Amino acid sequence: MKITTASAPGKLILFGEHAVIYGYPCIGIAISKRISATVQQAARDKIITPSVVKSPFVEEALKYFRQKYKVVGQVLITTNGDFSHHVGLGSSSAVTVAVIKALSQFFNIKLSSREVFDISYKIVLSIQKVGSGFDVAVAAYGGALYFKNGGGVIEQLSISQLPLIIGYSGTKADTATIVKKISQEYKKNTRFAPIFSSIGNIVDTAKNTLVEGNFEKAGKLMTENHRLLQELGVSTKKLNEMVEAAISAGAYGGKLSGAGGGDCMIALVERDKQNSVMAAIQKVGGEIVSAL
Ligand code: PMV
Repeated sequence: MKITTASAPGKLILFGEHAVIYGYPCIGIAISKRISATVQQAARDKIITPSVVKSPFVEEALKYFRQKYKVVGQVLITTNGDFSHHVGLGSSSAVTVAVIKALSQFFNIKLSSREVFDISYKIVLSIQKVGSGFDVAVAAYGGALYFKNGGGVIEQLSISQLPLIIGYSGTKADTATIVKKISQEYKKNTRFAPIFSSIGNIVDTAKNTLVEGNFEKAGKLMTENHRLLQELGVSTKKLNEMVEAAISAGAYGGKLSGAGGGDCMIALVERDKQNSVMAAIQKVGGEIVSAL
């Protein structure tokens, strides 16, 4: 019996969250944690998603794929992930991309990374209604990406493995609600535009800094980016404490990663300081998700 399996990575946003919704660039990277999808022949269509009761992303991916490619034959889709959907590391995008890739292999339809991105972004947007698509691009392409304009620009960056610590703040953020709130305030409040523009400048500087491998400068830029996200009002007391604790313990810099309001922070830390930085984050109540 034919069985195909494909996987896609989770993501972190290093620079540029929120501003990316308004036409500025962002930089996202894939993490080593992945979600996989297996497709096999079945008597009728069935979806098994062990980590969630129901996955609208998998359901929509199958429906969309069927309609677009007019494929014949029923399938069983099983997904598996090595990270939780609670921590904000892009499980929705990763599962969508993994399912599209596994279906395309099963039905012998060759898709480029660009096509996987375009299809998966449509699916994710149809469910979430908002989103820049950077997380879908990272899941589809992997590696490090400079991303702009809903995928108008997707540039693969050649950067060395970053010594990053990911800390979870203990609260699940609702990205769509935060993005909508900021967009409503942006229409009324003139102080938002210069914040987004400053974030855009940080992203462009950070792009070169990361390619050069200057971690010290990249860390400082992260902290600057965090301060701007604080001004935007999307950080939390806990995220701020975790970032400050990491910097005091010797990290080059740190910031919240994602929409804010909870989820994760990241700190760029030389390997010999990782233990003390992890301990400092834990001391203020953060949970270490991973050290890269
Ligand atoms: O909360 P996350 O990890 O899904 O990241 C959201 C990043 C935003 O820029 C706020 C939204 C987006 O889709 O780019």
